[in-house]
Amino acid sequence: MTKTETAGPDPLRGRRIVVGISGSIAAVKMPLVVSALARRGAEVRCVLTPSAERLVSAVALASLSRQPCCIDADQWSHEAPRPLHVELAEWAELILLAPLSATTLGRWIHGLGDSLLASVLLASEAPVLAAAAMNTAMWTSPGVVANWQALQQWDRVLPLGPSAGLLACDRRGAGRMAEPVQLLLALESLALHGWQRDWQGRRLLVSAGPTREPLDPARCITNPSTGLMGVLLAQAARLRGARVDLVHGPLALDAQLLDGLHCHPITTAAALQQQLRVLQPQADAVAMAAAVADHRRAEPLASKLAKHELEQALAQGWETVPDLLAELVAQRPSGQRILGFAAHSGDVLPQAQAKFARKGCDLLFANPIDQPGAGFGAGTNQGWLLGPGEEVVRLEAEGKFAIAHRLLDALGAFLRPPADAPDPAAPAAAGP
Ligand code: CTP
Repeated sequence: MTKTETAGPDPLRGRRIVVGISGSIAAVKMPLVVSALARRGAEVRCVLTPSAERLVSAVALASLSRQPCCIDADQWSHEAPRPLHVELAEWAELILLAPLSATTLGRWIHGLGDSLLASVLLASEAPVLAAAAMNTAMWTSPGVVANWQALQQWDRVLPLGPSAGLLACDRRGAGRMAEPVQLLLALESLALHGWQRDWQGRRLLVSAGPTREPLDPARCITNPSTGLMGVLLAQAARLRGARVDLVHGPLALDAQLLDGLHCHPITTAAALQQQLRVLQPQADAVAMAAAVADHRRAEPLASKLAKHELEQALAQGWETVPDLLAELVAQRPSGQRILGFAAHSGDVLPQAQAKFARKGCDLLFANPIDQPGAGFGAGTNQGWLLGPGEEVVRLEAEGKFAIAHRLLDALGAFLRPPADAPDPAAPAAAGP
């Protein structure tokens, strides 16, 4: 479902996941999620509330998960050696609670176990990813607001607030469940990092993707960056509680991978530079993952060149794009930490060490682009993380989301304790 799904060691492979589905129309999206989890090698057991049973087929979920789908009628059986809710609760390593309806939220918060799913939630000690979905008026009603706010304080819960959009009740407003791509990413984050929101109250500025410099209206200089590494870094930080500004060039990614980020699309290095100047002063940390094209026309050409004119146009009239990372380092406010990236072919480490000394950032992640499973467009990455005092940490090949979490661990270790209020768009704080 995402570009991360197919590549590399999968953090969801072999994980035992209970998928709890309660009564919201967003339940119709869950067979896709269950199918994706099963394809990725997770063991999945679905639990439906009575309302969810009316919205989504238990037979389809059983078939897609390759396991019986559990409903309230299964809870008590004279043939079962242990109560089903206790067995499921103890079996689960992770719980995906999606959609989370107003009723199931209320039951959970108030400690009521009057359905199979509600009892599983009470009996389990596993981390829970809880993705709310409901009508806008329900979402903003005082009881739901209070319950959702209470949930923010609970340990081992990663709450994903709904987004705004057109709802199945024909109303426009907050209430749409996070998209399947986001549910899978957040589950992966739970598996890799846990539910701790150690970036809460912090602002991270990330640049990602290529820049594009026009030669003429029909041609440009650019590079094969898809933006995946930077976008996954941004999402990992958001799921860990940060407010994230993402300045990105033209991406070759599923647009839903950007949900929840504060996005600032750009095309050229000049536009990137302008956005960075606006956003840098408020950031606690900056991650400069953009693959900036190195040259641009000194004077852009207004009309398309004929083929025979190209050779001459390519040979003259170009200038070097300024080093934006160097500008960020020179202008950074006190306490701000900066992570740079470096892409190299050949012997990466010596080139990266020279670049690190030249650029002056706090950390530099260097990766090869001429080896399988690393670099542009790959789902995995590997490389070296260079830090102060000539420290070099080898990062072995892993999915890019896992690498993103490691980079955040290293960057976060440099930061002062957070002082600001949490970001309303971050899942930790997303509330009515
Ligand atoms: N970078 C930048 N501005 C540029 C070029 C690169 O800010 N004009 C940043 C990149 O975003 C990255 C780091 O500098 O964080 C290193 O980029 P890279 O392309 O590896 O190196 P260059 O500085 O372009 O040097 P070279 O191509 O000679 O290796």
